[in-house]
Amino acid sequence: TGVFHTSPDGYLFCEDLQVKTVQDEFAKASEYGSPFFMYSKRQIGDNVRSYVEALQRHDLPYILGYAVKANNNLTILRILRDLGCTAVLVSGNELKLAMLAGFSTDKLVFNGNGKTQWEIELAVTHDVMINADSLFDIDHISSVARQLGKKVKMLLRMNPDIDPEVHRYLATGSAVSKFGIPETDLDTALGKAGSDDNIDLVGLHCHIGSTITNIDVFRATVSAMLRYNNHVQGRGFRLKYLNVGGGLGINYRKYIQVCMCIPSGGELIDSIADKIKESGLCLILEPGRSIIASAGILVSKVIGIKRNETRSFLVIDGSMTEVMRPCLYGAYHHIQLIEPTSGTRRYSVVGPVCECGDYLAEDIELPIPHEGCGLAIRDAGAYCASMSSNYNMRVRTI
Ligand code: LLP
Repeated sequence: TGVFHTSPDGYLFCEDLQVKTVQDEFAKASEYGSPFFMYSKRQIGDNVRSYVEALQRHDLPYILGYAVKANNNLTILRILRDLGCTAVLVSGNELKLAMLAGFSTDKLVFNGNGKTQWEIELAVTHDVMINADSLFDIDHISSVARQLGKKVKMLLRMNPDIDPEVHRYLATGSAVSKFGIPETDLDTALGKAGSDDNIDLVGLHCHIGSTITNIDVFRATVSAMLRYNNHVQGRGFRLKYLNVGGGLGINYRKYIQVCMCIPSGGELIDSIADKIKESGLCLILEPGRSIIASAGILVSKVIGIKRNETRSFLVIDGSMTEVMRPCLYGAYHHIQLIEPTSGTRRYSVVGPVCECGDYLAEDIELPIPHEGCGLAIRDAGAYCASMSSNYNMRVRTI
C-alpha cells in the first residue's frame, strides 16, 4: 500500500495511523486542534531516495540541498539532515533554523535577490556558499567579506531567459523576472568576482521556476549553463559547482488524472546526467516541492454546508491561511474525506476567511459529508505551512 491509503472500510491512513483517530485525539486535547498538518516520514525518505539513487547510479558528485522555504518544520529539517541532504536558504532566519537543525554550514547555500547586511554577515561568518543574484549583490557580499576578513564561496546566479511553462508568478528564469544575472552582464560579474581577493568564485547557479513538469526545460537550462561555463573557462576561471536549482513539479492531479507524466527526481537526474558528467563539475540541486509536497496533508473538518442557486458550499475550518496556493495561483489540491460516507455531489470547498478568494477547491465532486466530517487536503507538504498566515486573527497553523 501507498504511504497515504484508504482502508477498505473508507478511512484514510497516513502510514499506519488512521487520520480520523488522530483528528479526534487532537480535538479532545485542544480547541485549537483543527485544522492541522500531518506528515509522513516514509514519504519524505522515498522522495529523497528517488534523487539519491539516480545520482549514485550515475556516479555524479553532488550536493542535494533541500529548499527550506518549501517547509521549515524543524522535525522535517532534522529528518532531511539525517537523510544526507544539505539545506538551501533564502533568509538569515532560515539560516539560523538550518543551524539549529544541525546542518553543517559549509555545504549550505544562501539565495536571494535582496540579501541584507546582517544576513550576508551571518552567511559569510559560517562559510555558507552564496549565490550572488546581481552586480550589486556581488558588491555587497564582497564588502562584508572584506570587513570580516573572510573569503566567501560564491556562485553566480544566471538568468538564462528560459520559459519554464508555469504560472507567471513561478517563472524565475525568464527575462522579465527579477532574479539572476543576464548573460549580457556575465563578463562584468566575472570582472568583479574574479578579481576580488575576498571572493572564491566556485560555480554557476540557475533556478528558472517552480512546478516544472516538462523535462526538456531542465535540459535546456543545463545546456545554457554549460555554455556559460565554457565562457567562464575561456576567461581563465576553473569552477567546481553547477547548481541547477530546484523547480521540479509534482502531479497534484494524480488522483483524478492518472496518466499525466511528470518526471520523478530520479528521472530528472537521468535526463541531465550525461551533460553534467561531461562537464566534470559537482552538481548542486535545490529541490523543495518534489521532496516534501506529497508527504503532507492538511486535516480539516466540515463546519457546515450551504447552497445558493448555483453552488453548494462546503465550509470547512481550513482556509487560505493554511493552504494559500489555490487562491494565489489557482492551484489544484486534491480533497478527500477521511471517513466513509455515501453518494456524491459537487461542492466548492471554502474556508471561514472573509475573502471570496478563500477557496480550497472550486466545484469538485465529493462524497456527501456531514457536519463535523473530516477531510484531507492532499500534497500540502510544500508551500502551505510555510506560507500560512494568521489573517483574520486565525491561529497560525504550522
Ligand atoms: N531554489 C531557488 C532559488 C528557489 O527560488 C526555489 C523556489 C527553490 C530552489 C525550490 O523550488 P521547488 O523545487 O520547490 O520548486 N510558493 C510557490 C513556490 C515558490 C517557489 C519559489 N522558489 C508555490 O506555492 O507553488
